[in-house]
Amino acid sequence: MAVTVKNAQRVRKMIVAERIKETREIIGSWRKQGLSVGFVPTMGYLHEGHRALINRARQENDRVVVSLFVNPTQFGPNEDYEKYPRDFERDREICEKAGVDLLFAPSVAEMYPSRNLAFVDIAELGEGLCGAKRPGHFRGVCTVVTKLFNIVLPDRAYFGEKDAQQLAIIRRMTEDLNFNTRIVACPTVRDADGLALSSRNAYLSEVERKAALVIPQSLQAARQAMDGGERDAARIIGMIREMIAKEPLAAIDYIEVVDGETLKPVSRVEGPVLVAVAVFVSKTRLIDNFWYKEGSTCF
Ligand code: PAJ
Repeated sequence: MAVTVKNAQRVRKMIVAERIKETREIIGSWRKQGLSVGFVPTMGYLHEGHRALINRARQENDRVVVSLFVNPTQFGPNEDYEKYPRDFERDREICEKAGVDLLFAPSVAEMYPSRNLAFVDIAELGEGLCGAKRPGHFRGVCTVVTKLFNIVLPDRAYFGEKDAQQLAIIRRMTEDLNFNTRIVACPTVRDADGLALSSRNAYLSEVERKAALVIPQSLQAARQAMDGGERDAARIIGMIREMIAKEPLAAIDYIEVVDGETLKPVSRVEGPVLVAVAVFVSKTRLIDNFWYKEGSTCF
């Protein structure tokens, strides 16, 4: 019986690779066959947000590679590297079901066999927002994404708008360093009640999970005010601050209205802007944002 292309795709088994050499060989053989490669870098503990990226990659490429690596160089000394949620079996199953072709899950020793002396960093775009609050974070992100891009050599790589500063930085890094990869942005996936999905939501107790709703609610209120003509950044920030301050479990890390391209704070909303917040709910730090452009909002 003839096997249709659809059937052939369905029976293709997902490969799990822990070694860089093996990963390069598999992807190299695909390239030789002229197949396109889509790449979704992750730190695992996958949720529907990651799945949306994988689905998009599945639609646009012949082969899909997902990396699963909790990258130590992007965590500060007092951050949650040790306790970051990990569940390899669950992630493996999610990837297999989503039609991933290759799951690259290296160890720390595989990615960083010796103390790294070379790093990739970015000026300006990495200085504000999370960059100001998490020194060295984006250097770690740029370095690991560069390493992953050099291993996978993807045609397209998929990133979420949930991490808006990361997305802007990766876009610029890709352009400035001439990576032959197209960066594809995917909208933030939220739970039905509005909370942006995040692997870190796993830290929240039921009570904290409810308290965290003040984040999307305050952004929604800001967006409505902007739709109603509010253009003053200080007033927009004040409005978000006031709402979040009413929630006893929440503590503001930052609230900013920044230029959509430079990520520098603006005092008035004239061109496209990013409204971004980082909030601690008890000990869990959550981020959220929305893009605002006259006439078309994205939340
Ligand atoms: P991680 O937090 O696992 O996220 C992997 C990708 O999923 C990122 O591009 C992120 O923006 C996207 N994502 C997370 N939550 C999302 C949501 N609710 N909706 C849509 N997309 C979402 O970001 C990282 O890992 C790391 O910094 C990494 C890029 C892998 C480098 O280590």
